[in-house]
Amino acid sequence: MLKPPFILAIAGGGSTYTPGIVKSLMVRLEDFPLAEIRLYDIDSSRQDTIAPVVEKVIRDHSQTITFTTTSDPETAFRGAHFVFAQMRVGQYKMREQDEKIPLRHGVPGQETCGPGGLAYGLRTILPMVELIDLVEHYADSNAWIVNYSNPAAIVAEGVRRLRPQARVLNICDMPVAAMRNMGAILGVDRHKLEVDYFGLNHFGWFTRVMVDGEDRLPELRRHIAKFGLLTEDAAQTDPQHSDPSWVKTWRNIQPIMEHFPEYLPNPYLQYYLMPNDIVAHQRPDYTRANEVMDGREKKLFAAAEEYKRTGILPDAFHVGVHGAFIVDVACSLAFDLRQRHLVIVENKGAIANLPYDAMVEVPAYITANGPEPVRMGAVPLFHQTLLMQQLASEQLLVEATIEGSYEKALQAFTLNRTVPSMQHAKAILDEMIAANAAYWPELKKAWQDGEAVK
Ligand code: NAD
Ligand code: G6P
Ligand code: MN
Repeated sequence: MLKPPFILAIAGGGSTYTPGIVKSLMVRLEDFPLAEIRLYDIDSSRQDTIAPVVEKVIRDHSQTITFTTTSDPETAFRGAHFVFAQMRVGQYKMREQDEKIPLRHGVPGQETCGPGGLAYGLRTILPMVELIDLVEHYADSNAWIVNYSNPAAIVAEGVRRLRPQARVLNICDMPVAAMRNMGAILGVDRHKLEVDYFGLNHFGWFTRVMVDGEDRLPELRRHIAKFGLLTEDAAQTDPQHSDPSWVKTWRNIQPIMEHFPEYLPNPYLQYYLMPNDIVAHQRPDYTRANEVMDGREKKLFAAAEEYKRTGILPDAFHVGVHGAFIVDVACSLAFDLRQRHLVIVENKGAIANLPYDAMVEVPAYITANGPEPVRMGAVPLFHQTLLMQQLASEQLLVEATIEGSYEKALQAFTLNRTVPSMQHAKAILDEMIAANAAYWPELKKAWQDGEAVK
């Protein structure tokens, strides 16, 4: 087992989430003792802007933790015990493209769902593998990478194919954020909920919400019929997920459950089950990327600026579910706590009627040797079919990346439920190839004018 105090590296150190995650770490130092925090980013200027804020958050809680910022992999990972990954390959300017290109074709523009998610996947798989190789080269041989980098479903599948032995655990904060809201509705702390859930990342359903042995889903259905999964306290407890576009997203749980009341859907299913409605409410010239740049990013940069000028750090960084969850997972990995968390794992029969090797999102016991998925049984035909189609789209995208195949990329786009036709798929893909020239592997055509290319 890994021995505390730990050396932790954060890859994507310049992320808007870094101060919140570090604050989470600081309030949990007794559970997760730290000797060092190292920020690693390929954009040193972005990271250097944020670093003083992060250092202040650390120093408010500890004088002994060593703090380093670097763009050098050896300095970042030498002897590290944990790496938290949160890279955004291409940064917000490429997120904007992921969202705006599909919208120009009447298809939802989203960071991780639909063509946007596929495009982001094509950018991220290979850099993620590079990161894994660097960590394996320099870090402690038992080090764990806990990965938030999106699109997590596709990243997880890419890593499974290319680095099957890697000690990487892919996680998402969306189910926990939903559980936070469920807890608020039910008047219980989210840690008291024990849920059953099946699906892929950003594509799944809660089937039971147990509190002290009782399924409280019926009560949640009654709230959702009126308000969706929106709660009154959201603004205080979760500023990110109370932005206008998130409020709409929480509300959209209502129409989805009105049609399919049995299970409680992951909010991201709105993009697949009601794409026309989503497009009708999205502004083609101002998407979530713009909202984040004008909101979360601006606020962080302004706080950094104010701190530099006055020496006073505005109280802008709270411990939300995002930071709390990754620390919970890391504690369970570090100390073999076997806590039950929803994570992304190889299926291995957990969902009986999905492929054995699919990367699924289910509850798992998190041990020092990784996650042990809990069996969710067979899922109904409707859900199984939706899942199989999404899985195929994501797997073809991974194959397109690995093989450099244009045809497989086109199949991935065509199979995605958000895309109405092969013509839409091709038009979006071709625009995205041009926009991603600096990031995507080359996609070669195996067929040209009806002839196989030699
Ligand atoms: P951000 O752009 O503020 O931060 C990402 C940082 O990653 C940037 O500083 C960028 O320079 C850096 N980066 C890019 N490529 C890199 C590489 N190859 N190596 C090291 N660093 C690299 O983005 P953000 O909004 O703070 O989000 C960070 C990441 O976390 C994104 O991938 C986002 O999608 C993800 N995220 C995931 C979840 C989840 O549920 N899994 C939740 C929230 C955020
Ligand atoms: C949720 C999801 C993440 C996603 C984030 C986007 O937390 O689980 O996977 O990255 O929302 O949030 P943003 O505020 O950047 O739109
Ligand atoms: Mn997520």
